[in-house]
Amino acid sequence: MDKSIQEEIASRRTFAIISHPDAGKTTMTEKLLYFGGAIRDAGTVKGKKTGKFATSDWMEIEKQRGISVTSSVMQFDYDGKRVNILDTPGHEDFSEDTYRTLMAVDAAVMMVDSGKGIEPQTIKLFKVCRMRGIPIFTFMNKMDRQGKEPLELMEELEEVLGIESYAMNWPIGMGKEFLGVYDRFNHRIEQARYDAEERFLELDEEGELKHPHAMTETSYYEQALEDVLLLNEAGNEFDEERVAKGELTPVFFGSALTNFGVQTFLETFLQFAPPPQPRSTKEEEAVSPYSDEFSGFIFKIQANMNPMHRDRIAFVRIVSGAFERGMTVTVPRISKTFKLTQTTQFLADDRETVNEAVAGDIIGLHDTGNYQIGDTVIGGKSSFQFDALPQFTPELFVRVTAKNVMKSKHFHKGILQLVQEGAIQYYRTLHTEEVLLGAVGQLQFEVFEHRMKNEYNVEVRMEHIGSKVARWIENEQNVKESMAGQRAMLVKDRYDNFVFLFENDFAMRWFHDKHPEIQLYSLL
Ligand code: G4P
Repeated sequence: MDKSIQEEIASRRTFAIISHPDAGKTTMTEKLLYFGGAIRDAGTVKGKKTGKFATSDWMEIEKQRGISVTSSVMQFDYDGKRVNILDTPGHEDFSEDTYRTLMAVDAAVMMVDSGKGIEPQTIKLFKVCRMRGIPIFTFMNKMDRQGKEPLELMEELEEVLGIESYAMNWPIGMGKEFLGVYDRFNHRIEQARYDAEERFLELDEEGELKHPHAMTETSYYEQALEDVLLLNEAGNEFDEERVAKGELTPVFFGSALTNFGVQTFLETFLQFAPPPQPRSTKEEEAVSPYSDEFSGFIFKIQANMNPMHRDRIAFVRIVSGAFERGMTVTVPRISKTFKLTQTTQFLADDRETVNEAVAGDIIGLHDTGNYQIGDTVIGGKSSFQFDALPQFTPELFVRVTAKNVMKSKHFHKGILQLVQEGAIQYYRTLHTEEVLLGAVGQLQFEVFEHRMKNEYNVEVRMEHIGSKVARWIENEQNVKESMAGQRAMLVKDRYDNFVFLFENDFAMRWFHDKHPEIQLYSLL
């Protein structure tokens, strides 16, 4: 491989920010883009109120509800690195897309609202990162507000999430009395309020302020010194290897809104966040990012991003090699080749044509309905497929029909496309062939209904059949239709696999006792 391409690949850092809604993910993203020079003023990117990002009509829903349900990709350069941030939808109801985005990153930044601690959505997203074994960096946000005690927050990380932590810095005071952080990693104090020269204060060998300073008079400083001593003696050691495996999370305290600690965080993060990693394939051999052949996989498909062009965009995470506009790729699943001429890259607030990209980058391919979530694309002669993306066990189900039976063709076309995009999961009943849809969260149904109307011109009727416990079957050949009943619906998924939809956990256990020979399993 060309040396310059190798260097390009080694400079990539691709990550996602995960958080519970309102923890400060958007604010953090803005600040990072600001440092990266991608925007002039922090505070101009996809402001929920300015709606700058709302370029497609299905984003109407997010505008109306003041939430963010789409993910996008942002890129900037910092310190010789090219940073790709994959934004993830923050709303707790819309998590499948987020989960899949996490399959395309090499690291995650977890934002925690220090007033609230670890919240439910953070737990779910964290689990997916944990499963992948990617490094996770924690930012304890909103230190400019009175929040939980820092030691309590560290304890929560370990107890609620079960991950060990290392405090890279430690807050000195909090809320109105937030004076800055004791930076253990860089061995200095970073002040929250300072005149131009005094942002960093030096520490002596004992770890105390080297020169006299008003801060030493405060109880907050004393407390921070005491806590740091405790951490030094009883806390975990910083261990780069364990960080890389996702076993130890480096923790940073700061405030995204007041821009405190963000730059130091970014610099340290970039030092330890991994470059593009190899990816395993169904054929067993993992593909190295430095393999000469271009390859990647589709982790997201989004239709009609721009109402002016009724197009679909397939988001590809490049796994190996370099992409060049106009190249031909193969999709092994369908053994078809495509010439990639219409490609896009996502910048802060614009879509630009991309000519070149390398492993670690994300590109958007114009799609006329050929691609599916999870597809592998290969630029050379090889034929292999990357490991399948996980499917998530839906919990909510609706029975869906077209209000106007004459629209049946559009209805099925719309469903097919939205299912391919991974926007919703498809099931059908046996014999009666009724269409059931499954989702992880209620909002997915609302987006589905909205898009069917706006994009396919079909009004749908959705009848809630409530939450169900969906279980797939290991030994399908043993399944008999007579096993189904009121509390255990038997349906088929889009791949024609049997699925039982149990009324609740109790019904599932009852079934299990009655039919111990049937081996049930759930997806993620
Ligand atoms: P999200 O993307 O994770 O959902 O969170 P977002 O950045 O939108 O932040 C949620 C709210 O928290 C916003 O206030 C934001 O200004 C505030 N916030 C973010 N970081 C900090 C911080 O470090 N300190 C403090 N005090 N607040 C912070 P909002 O009033 O809901 O929205 P807005 O009116 O500011 O847009």
